[in-house]
Amino acid sequence: MARIGIFFGTNSGTTRKIAKQIKKRFDDETMAEPVNINKVSAEDLLAYDFLIVGTPTLGDGQLPGLAAECDEESWEEALESLQGTSFAGKTIAIYGLGDQETYAHEFVDGMILLYDFFKGAGAKIVGAWPTDGYNFDISQAVVNDQFVGLALDQEIQPELTAERLDGWLKLIAPEFGLPL
Ligand SMILES: Cc1cc2nc3c(=O)[nH]c(=O)nc-3n(C[C@H](O)[C@H](O)[C@H](O)COP(=O)(O)O)c2cc1C
Repeated sequence: MARIGIFFGTNSGTTRKIAKQIKKRFDDETMAEPVNINKVSAEDLLAYDFLIVGTPTLGDGQLPGLAAECDEESWEEALESLQGTSFAGKTIAIYGLGDQETYAHEFVDGMILLYDFFKGAGAKIVGAWPTDGYNFDISQAVVNDQFVGLALDQEIQPELTAERLDGWLKLIAPEFGLPL
């Protein structure tokens, strides 16, 4: 079984595409195929000591899910069903998609909801990312002057994504024992 699990939520598929781009960089022993968070149970997540979790921000600075008018259940419902599950001993890195122009006052806010949840559940969160190179007004996902995970913007800055992914994966490599 692969050492690292990668799980995403999505409404229109972009966050899934990014998960696939991350997985493409690693062999099957290192990383499992990306799985939609609406298809898994707590056991599926707990099978891994190392996890990458991805989410877009939708609605009004929300996680994807029915409350954010997504077609399907997603992170919102998954976190509800994971309430009370311990992630102690797990190392988790977060990536988040957003749009810094249209949603400049709530850019990638969804990441903080994953951060608070998994940190609160005992996980070690890694992969904080600098805010340099982004142009937004406010983000709840900024803690101590850094995003709590990798912020990606496929609407405004898609050309920067590959480089950001490479830099971020290098950053988390020591924490994940990654061959980079
Ligand atoms: C209805 C709607 C609400 C959105 N709200 C936000 C937001 O609050 N903050 C943000 O940074 N991006 C927001 N976005 C941008 C999405 O996060 C972005 O388009 C993302 O790439 C979508 O990912 P997906 O294709 O995986 O669903 C919103 C997009 C839509 C369509």
